[in-house]
Amino acid sequence: MIELVSPAEMRAWSRARRADGARIGFVPTMGALHDGHLQLVDRARAAADTVVMSIFVNPLQFGPTEDLDRYPRDLARDRALARDHAVDCLFVPAAVDMYPPGAVVRVTPGALAAHLCGPHRPGHFEGVLTVVAKLLHIVEPDVAVFGRKDAQQARLIARMAADLDFPVDVLIGATVREADGLALSSRNAYLSADHRRQAGAIPAALADAHTRFLGGERDAAALCAALRRRLEQAGLVVEYVEAVDPDRLEPVATVAGDTLVAVAAQVGTTRLIDNIILGDGLAADLPAH
Ligand code: PAJ
Repeated sequence: MIELVSPAEMRAWSRARRADGARIGFVPTMGALHDGHLQLVDRARAAADTVVMSIFVNPLQFGPTEDLDRYPRDLARDRALARDHAVDCLFVPAAVDMYPPGAVVRVTPGALAAHLCGPHRPGHFEGVLTVVAKLLHIVEPDVAVFGRKDAQQARLIARMAADLDFPVDVLIGATVREADGLALSSRNAYLSADHRRQAGAIPAALADAHTRFLGGERDAAALCAALRRRLEQAGLVVEYVEAVDPDRLEPVATVAGDTLVAVAAQVGTTRLIDNIILGDGLAADLPAH
C-alpha cells in the first residue's frame, strides 16, 4: 500500500494507474475505520482494479459546536486496517493543502438539504459536497462508494455528480451493523456502556416501523410518531424522525413505493443517525431484528 499526502502526487498516481489501463475505485472517509468503511472498500474493489481510500477529517463539515476537536483520530491503526484490507493507495491530505488560505468557493446542496439533517446542521452538507468534489477532482476515480447509513449524504453526492457532470459512477453500499442492529459509526466510540445499550433502541425502533409497515400501516405520520415514541421511551433525545421520498428527500404523507425513514437522536451527548427504506426495493438493508 502506498501512502500519499500531496494532492498533486495523488492525482499523478491515479493518472499513471489509469494510463496502465486500471479502473480506479475510491472510498472517502474521515478515518477511525470500522467494518462499515471496509465493506465499502470491498464494494469498490468489486467494481474496479485498484482502490484508493482517503482519510481526512474535514473541518468544513463540522459546525462550531460540533465534535471536530474530539473526533477520533488514529492514523497508525487506520493505516494497518487499510493495509490488511488490501487498499492500494491511502490518501491522507493535510488541511492546509485542501483549504489553502484564500479558498472561498463552496458547493451548495440546494433543496436536497431542506429536510432530515440539513436544517439541524447548517453548512454541513456544503462542507461535505465541497470536500467530496475536491477529492473526486484529485483522485479522478472511475467509481466512488458511499454508505447508505448516511443516506442524505449519499443522495446529495450522487446528485452532485449528475448535476455537475463529474465523470464518476457513484455506488451506495449497504449499512453495516453490530449484532444488535446498531449501525457502525466512528462516533459509537463516544458511547459509555449504558449509552451503547440505549443506542440499541434506534435499530429496534426502525425494525418496529418495518413490522408496522408489513402489517399494513401506510400512514407516514403514524409510523413516524410510533418510532419517535419508542426512541423517547428508551431515553433518547430525538432530533427528527422523517419519512421522505428516497430520491427527492421530500416528506411523504403515505408510504407508497420505496420510502426512506430516517432518524437522528442523541444518546447522552452523542448524535447518532440511522435509516431504513420501507417498500419493495431494499429489504436487505434492514436492521437485524
Ligand atoms: P465517514 O463518516 O468516515 O464515512 C465514510 C463513508 O463510510 C461514508 O460513505 C459513510 O456513509 C460510510 N459509512 C459509515 N458508517 C457506515 C456503516 N455502518 N455502513 C456502511 N457505510 C458506512 O461520511 C464521511 O466520513 C464524510 O462525510 C466524507 C464523505 C468522507 C466527506 O468528508
